Amino acid sequence: MKVLGASKFGRQSLRFFSHHPKPHCISPTDVIIKVEYSDLNPVDHHKLNSRPAGAETPPDRTPFIVGFGGSGVIESVSEMADEQSRGLLNKRVVFIADPSNDGSYSQYIRCDRRIVAIIPDDIPFHEAASIPIAGCTAFESLAKVGLSVTDFGPESESAGDGKRLLIVGGSGGVGSWITQLARSNYPKLDIVCTVGSEDSSHWCKKMGCDRTIKHDEINTLGGGPKGSCNYIICLTEPTQTVFTSLTEVLRPYGQICLVAAGDGIKSLDLSFVFFKCGTVSTQTVFSSIRVGYCLDQANEMAIILRLMGTKRVTAPMNDNWNNIESGWKECNKEGGYIDVVGSGHMKGKLVMKIGHHGS
Ligand SMILES: NC(=O)c1ccc[n+]([C@@H]2O[C@H](COP(=O)([O-])OP(=O)(O)OC[C@H]3O[C@@H](n4cnc5c(N)ncnc54)[C@H](OP(=O)(O)O)[C@@H]3O)[C@@H](O)[C@H]2O)c1
Repeated sequence: MKVLGASKFGRQSLRFFSHHPKPHCISPTDVIIKVEYSDLNPVDHHKLNSRPAGAETPPDRTPFIVGFGGSGVIESVSEMADEQSRGLLNKRVVFIADPSNDGSYSQYIRCDRRIVAIIPDDIPFHEAASIPIAGCTAFESLAKVGLSVTDFGPESESAGDGKRLLIVGGSGGVGSWITQLARSNYPKLDIVCTVGSEDSSHWCKKMGCDRTIKHDEINTLGGGPKGSCNYIICLTEPTQTVFTSLTEVLRPYGQICLVAAGDGIKSLDLSFVFFKCGTVSTQTVFSSIRVGYCLDQANEMAIILRLMGTKRVTAPMNDNWNNIESGWKECNKEGGYIDVVGSGHMKGKLVMKIGHHGS
């Protein structure tokens, strides 16, 4: 089968390998998926470029295949599979890839059935592929700050009234999903996104936020002992400057969820959070896989798919998503998809059509 992989660190070394062995099931819960679209995320870029000191080639396996989710069709299941797995044969699914296996820049992938969800007939593959990493991260970070999302819609038309959610870095894939999922369940929540440009501001409003401020204007929201934000989700590295602004505007008993890491997390000053009796949590979408699927991420994706089905949310597709042919063929070129997802200034989600017919 054909994969896009790297035998060395650095985006430049990403290239096609045409005779990579097709995966096969190892455990009874494994399924083999013919990939239609791969999800694209900043982590793909980071993994290809972040060379540990002294390392020449990616560890463990060559080629190193990134891509951490997508959509496709279940082509086979394990010979030892139970009824539940067999019922998935030939189904259209969305999946999260286990980061310790080969990724989704590939024609086929081995996945665990506990992280796949069936795509309803009326939802196209490309829209479903925008869910796994960004959608689940959004879903889980909202739960962390106390804004649980269900597919029943809002508990009442006034849900969220008098409360404010601040999203730091709102226009990218995760921010777009957070805004939409929060809006679908909390119609009266005041959603404020930080942005770096007018384009991003338009995008965030299209996703459903109430207003935007510049990334470095967080303090203008109203800080001090009372603060003004009940919930804060931070999608950029919490440097001390950023984190101090967040603790300034946090309301007493408020919640901050940190989704992006970086050196800043080694030395965060919690004094003002302590003073406000606030909660700081962290969010990593792969943690559940690492400890044996402790979260039902298949159900999270199913909830998002049902919300899409009832039009309470829409897939936040980046304007370039339909660059179908060149997306896969030119992913590794200068200015190709891998550079775009690593730019740090995405609007919405980019997904990549995987070529299967000599492409
Ligand atoms: N922990 C996890 O499991 C997990 C999962 C997914 C993503 N992430 C991380 O979460 C972050 C967002 O992911 P994503 O997929 O949404 O990325 P993305 O689609 O590439 O979007 C990047 C966002 O960052 C914003 N941004 C750029 N500079 C900023 C700054 N100085 N301050 C605040 N925001 C800034 C951009 O806004 P403008 O263009 O308007 O500046 C854009 O909205 C990334 O760091 C990613 O690695 C973590």
